[in-house]
Amino acid sequence: MIRPERSKLASNWSLDPGITFLNHGSFGATPIQIMEEQSKLRIQLERDPVRFFEREFMPLMMESIGVASRFLNADPEGMAFVKNATEGVNTVMRSLELNEGDEVIVPNHSYQACWNAVDFATKRSGAKTVVVDLPFRVSNEEEIVNIILGAVTEKTVLALIDTVTSPTGLRMPFEELVSKLQSEGVDVLLDAAHGPGIVPLDLKKIDAAYCTGNFHKWICSPKGSAFLHIRSDRKDRIRPLSIGHGATFEGSEQERFEYEFGWPGTQDPTPWLCIPKSMEFLSSLVDGGWPSIIEKNKNLAIEGRKVICEALGTDPPVPESMVSSMAAVEMPGNGEVGAMSLEGDPFHNLLLDRYGIQVPVFPWKHHGKRYIRISAQLYNDIGEYEFLAEVLKERL
Ligand SMILES: Cc1ncc(COP(=O)(O)O)c(C=O)c1O
Repeated sequence: MIRPERSKLASNWSLDPGITFLNHGSFGATPIQIMEEQSKLRIQLERDPVRFFEREFMPLMMESIGVASRFLNADPEGMAFVKNATEGVNTVMRSLELNEGDEVIVPNHSYQACWNAVDFATKRSGAKTVVVDLPFRVSNEEEIVNIILGAVTEKTVLALIDTVTSPTGLRMPFEELVSKLQSEGVDVLLDAAHGPGIVPLDLKKIDAAYCTGNFHKWICSPKGSAFLHIRSDRKDRIRPLSIGHGATFEGSEQERFEYEFGWPGTQDPTPWLCIPKSMEFLSSLVDGGWPSIIEKNKNLAIEGRKVICEALGTDPPVPESMVSSMAAVEMPGNGEVGAMSLEGDPFHNLLLDRYGIQVPVFPWKHHGKRYIRISAQLYNDIGEYEFLAEVLKERL
């Protein structure tokens, strides 16, 4: 089998030509121009690290915060950068003072690391994680909304809701969920790890109490660029994970917020500073900018899913309205599935080692199933999913 070509836009990335890369979702992939931008910033920093951090860093970071806030239509005064969505979720969960008996809703499609952070916070305070079982195959958004709302009790204080789920690649009806949950007095922590650049996000309109998300996935900025947005009436409840100099910063409350989150201690801030360039660069690759990118990737994921479903002899598990730039399908076979492990699923390893296909195949113990999940980014082409489908037919 001959390895298929990527799309014409792939020349903007440095992806290994010996690999068919169908897993943008896990860690993103940064274009060459953005890596060059990051190098420039690192050189600027290292010319005089003291001057950089004393004089240049804060204005650059605030500029980046401004651009990110405009992109998400978020309140810049509630916007902070973090290294990743896991840190964003931890920041909220480890700040909140839960009481004994409080309930926190976590759907069973949630990212395990974030779910673990919720468990950590509920266990230590005598609160309770309420796991909501959602099926993998759903016929419409209402089904999901009804199941989650059905789990609300008078003790529910918070719900962790994804924009797009990780194991199952499901575009959640998060706008409706946030609105309905919050109208019942349940704050929402919106996990938009797959958020910016994969679904339209208007944070002012959505109005979640807390929202964290990655830029290093679908905006393709360098790894370590993510945000945590806190609604103004919740800002006094949340402190950064690292309590540092900011705690004794003398200035207004807002200045303290910016300094506390902006200076968690010495670290490489260039991923944060590359966010504006990454947004601008990607949007310049497609006529129509970000809305067109989101649409184009979604259409490719839907096409790719069709090809894979045919190969596996199965039907698409969720309606197209619940697909974004990722789509998952069940792997054949029933019965016991193991826990996720560092060694990786044997079939994933086979696809990679024998065919050079990088695509996640993993057990999801909460459903007792294994899923294969494809991603679609601008560098992908339909031929790559057809190649995967050929291999699936040959091996299964
Ligand atoms: C839904 C979801 N939440 C959180 C994360 C964690 O992202 P990060 O590793 O950047 O913290 C991921 C990563 O894939 C995810 O899919």
